[in-house]
Amino acid sequence: MKAVVYQKPYAVKVSQVDDPGIQHPNDVIVRVTSTAICGSDLHMYEGRTAAEPGIVFGHENMGVIEETGPGVVSLKVGDRVVMPFNVACGFCKNCMAGNTGFCLTVNPGFAGGAYGYVAMGPYEGGQAERLRVPFADFNCLKLPHGEQFETDFVLLADIFPTGYHGCELAEVSPGESVAVYGAGPVGLMAAYSALLRGASKVFVVDRVPERLAKAEQIGAIPIDFSQGDPTEQIREQTGGDGTDKGIDSVGYQAKSQDAEHEVPAAVLNALVETVRATGMIGVPGLYVPSDPGAPNEAASHGQLLFSIGKFFEKGLRMGTGQCNVKKYNRQLRDLIIAGRAKPSFVVSHELPLEQAPMAYEKFDKRIEGYTKVVLHPALAA
Ligand SMILES: NC(=O)c1ccc[n+]([C@@H]2O[C@H](COP(=O)([O-])OP(=O)(O)OC[C@H]3O[C@@H](n4cnc5c(N)ncnc54)[C@H](O)[C@@H]3O)[C@@H](O)[C@H]2O)c1
Ligand SMILES: [Zn+2]
Ligand SMILES: [Zn+2]
Repeated sequence: MKAVVYQKPYAVKVSQVDDPGIQHPNDVIVRVTSTAICGSDLHMYEGRTAAEPGIVFGHENMGVIEETGPGVVSLKVGDRVVMPFNVACGFCKNCMAGNTGFCLTVNPGFAGGAYGYVAMGPYEGGQAERLRVPFADFNCLKLPHGEQFETDFVLLADIFPTGYHGCELAEVSPGESVAVYGAGPVGLMAAYSALLRGASKVFVVDRVPERLAKAEQIGAIPIDFSQGDPTEQIREQTGGDGTDKGIDSVGYQAKSQDAEHEVPAAVLNALVETVRATGMIGVPGLYVPSDPGAPNEAASHGQLLFSIGKFFEKGLRMGTGQCNVKKYNRQLRDLIIAGRAKPSFVVSHELPLEQAPMAYEKFDKRIEGYTKVVLHPALAA
């Protein structure tokens, strides 16, 4: 089958690889109909991880079940399903508590597994024609048959739940004001989720015009950080108080105001300034324990200059980590089906698998409006 295979920094290729097969009685094989490229894929694409050439990318996958293992009980051939990017068992201590992003079974020695991701276990990615799904009864979320809502449903694999998770971590409640840093797919979904949860005012900070335009389109207030300190811009619009809550949807690759440098703690420290005393900060944006591409020695060990003094003084609280997609994907699916949520506004491009190399390049440069790319393996090249 065809698959998107990592070659070397800034190079992926669509190559022939072996078809996946059933390895365990609770596996299914899914014919992939949609698979999205994620900001998280870019960490590997840019060569900032230990990802080895040959890895098949793709953790945001949906499709139709083609084959079921003999132990599968709730799924059948022909079912349309979307899989959380987390691979999880459903029965370990963390899964039992709903923390499926930190499964203790699927990736020995590490809490958490994912498809097509370095250090996240032996699970091939789904930017391919087919995908093996382990613990399938637990990991597949069933969808209505047909083709309706395809580009909405594929976002249930990661970014819609992840944006929502940012709001959960920050405990966003009705009537509150929220500052979201980053208008990438995750930030846009965080802002969208905050509005769904009844936030009164949502600011979205970025410097990419098309992305800020999407934020405005959903009813958020765009803040262009290339035009001046975003914390001051937000304070001015909140009577000097700052927001009730904040969400970091950028992570350690945060850029300086002129976008010339990486300042890994820039967004965390901006949030300490932006959020009012006793507020909360949710951090779905990624921070890593080691980063060969970091701008300094401490940061290369995941140690950043965080304003802990101010954070403490203000009595702020913070929640972090991978999204437990399974915790939210069912409810978010039902919002889509009911017509109450349409996350696909974030999708800028739908392309055949063959165009993945070009799509990675443009998405990585954040140019030509490449906000979110969905690949359809069945689309003619
Ligand atoms: N926690 C999870 O489970 C989870 C899941 C998916 C993605 N992520 C992470 O979330 C982050 C965002 O993902 P994405 O797909 O939206 O990525 P992205 O790279 O497309 O978006 C990041 C955005 O941040 C903006 N930005 C850079 N510096 C900034 C600054 N100083 N202030 C404000 N904005 C700034 C960029 O212009 C860009 O638009 C990544 O770190 C990704 O790895 C986490
Ligand atoms: Zn993702
Ligand atoms: Zn588990």
